[in-house]
Amino acid sequence: MGNVLLTNYCNRRCKYCFAQEKIAFEDAAGADKSKRFLSLDDLEKVIRFFKRSATNQVGLLGGEPTLHPDFPVIIDRFLAEGFRIKLFSNGLMPGAALEYLGRLDSEQMLTIINVNHPDDALPGERDQVAATLDALKRKVALGFNIYRPDFDGEFLIDLVERYDLDRHIRLGLTQPILGGQNTHILREHYPEVGQRIARLAELTGPRGIFLGLDCGFTVCMFKPEDIGPMIYNGVTFKLTCNPIVDIGVDLSVWSCFPLSRWETTHLDQFETRQEIVRYYENKLQAFRGVGATADCLECRHKLGGNCLGGCIAQTIASFTPALGPSAA
Ligand SMILES: C[S@@+](CC[C@H](N)C(=O)[O-])C[C@H]1O[C@@H](n2cnc3c(N)ncnc32)[C@H](O)[C@@H]1O
Ligand code: SF4
Ligand code: SF4
Repeated sequence: MGNVLLTNYCNRRCKYCFAQEKIAFEDAAGADKSKRFLSLDDLEKVIRFFKRSATNQVGLLGGEPTLHPDFPVIIDRFLAEGFRIKLFSNGLMPGAALEYLGRLDSEQMLTIINVNHPDDALPGERDQVAATLDALKRKVALGFNIYRPDFDGEFLIDLVERYDLDRHIRLGLTQPILGGQNTHILREHYPEVGQRIARLAELTGPRGIFLGLDCGFTVCMFKPEDIGPMIYNGVTFKLTCNPIVDIGVDLSVWSCFPLSRWETTHLDQFETRQEIVRYYENKLQAFRGVGATADCLECRHKLGGNCLGGCIAQTIASFTPALGPSAA
């Protein structure tokens, strides 16, 4: 799967957002509004690129992708070409995008709505997200990025039950942008986060709600005695880290958001997605064997391939202190 940004604008301003280097917030002074949306010509270029790459899965994101004025046209084009779509949205959708998604009856599409804790919502945000969830119900799976070590995820269960949503929840661990300024969870807080996830799984598992942990989680953030029950309660772990390949609205390309300041290239430099993956993989190779902390070097979980040692942006930062991540 490759990701495409439909717009570099966003109507929310999450402090942890690792896309903040690539997006221009509505209220930002000097925001470059000249290249705000992916053009329909460039969309066709992207589709041809994915076809050449024999890729039929695409992630649509931004900024907030539903703000694209031609959002329905873009979805229709990808569906007509046989793509499976994962849409990442914050749920604050314009009415036309919501109506369109409500009418769409497609097995080829999943919408992931990334919510923040209700206590952190701006005025009106809670109601608007609730209206989106109510309109889309099972077409939506929730996403939640853990941005505080003392996070409370019980509200997610309430949302799934109240709006009859898909029973899978994507949990992300907020990661730093290498050389950037976003807030994120610090390593010393990982064990606290691990314990909270284990407690959340005790509530989700019996209800038939499944937690899927995205990249960057580590084995040692969990107590050994919690891991078995978590698996029993349906928690899944992601043990791979590959260049996901994000394509920006100006067709610039980077490996993944945490590495977006590290090196950006352009779609025109490559024939296929596989070439891009190889290009970035070569650059990352030197860091693959290590991990973000000294303990990782001789860790059996790393040697056994059960832990990657955390987000590779943190590993690179540990070798390049000048690029070190900001404090949470
Ligand atoms: C950049 S957002 C864009 C789409 C949409 N605005 C949203 O929030 O879902 C794409 C994905 O990145 C996630 N994300 C943002 N900042 C992150 C961070 N620091 N670490 C991990 N995931 C993050 C979001 O939750 C979302 O799943
Ligand atoms: S995570 Fe999504 S909603 Fe939040 S600021 Fe970033 S792009 Fe916007
Ligand atoms: S590889 Fe590093 S992060 Fe993973 S379990 Fe071992 S010490 Fe922890």
